[in-house]
Amino acid sequence: MPAETTLVMIKPDGVKRGLCGEILSRFERTGLKIAGVKLLILSRELAAEHYGEHSGKHFFDSLLDYVTSGPTLVLALEGPNAIAVVRKLMGSTRPEDAATGTIRGDFALNVDKNLIHGSEHDFDAKREIPRFFTNSELIRWDWNGEDKDAA
Ligand code: GTP
Ligand code: MG
Repeated sequence: MPAETTLVMIKPDGVKRGLCGEILSRFERTGLKIAGVKLLILSRELAAEHYGEHSGKHFFDSLLDYVTSGPTLVLALEGPNAIAVVRKLMGSTRPEDAATGTIRGDFALNVDKNLIHGSEHDFDAKREIPRFFTNSELIRWDWNGEDKDAA
């Protein structure tokens, strides 16, 4: 099966609370591999572009305040079904609806501080990854050869 790459962000509340290791270990345990990683504070412009589909909604300004409020850990994660696997482990957008055992279900209380972003669809992943990573900042794993045995 061809591998996918998805974009994940541990939002500022997750970084401030020291949850990066806990969250990343949940992804790594599935066999997903880190293809890219960087810590940065999103500019308002970049955040507005990233969440452009929500422009005009009542929570848009507070969403931008939130995601620009401190450092964010941005990850490109690679593996078979990476997009769906990450979304499943994240849990529902609203933590009160997120199942126990998911990241949002276990560590979040409110939709306005829901810890983590993951690309929703292949189309989103393909435009989100270049927003944060150049090609030379990404590692490509060999899913048909030796690397698949580690997954
Ligand atoms: P992302 O992976 O961050 O895109 O979350 P999602 O795909 O699960 O949800 P969605 O794209 O619908 O919403 C994007 C983000 O906007 C959410 O993760 C929340 O941080 C925020 N958000 C969504 N709905 C609300 C809301 O009703 N109120 C507030 N304050 N924030 C919201
Ligand atoms: Mg979304």
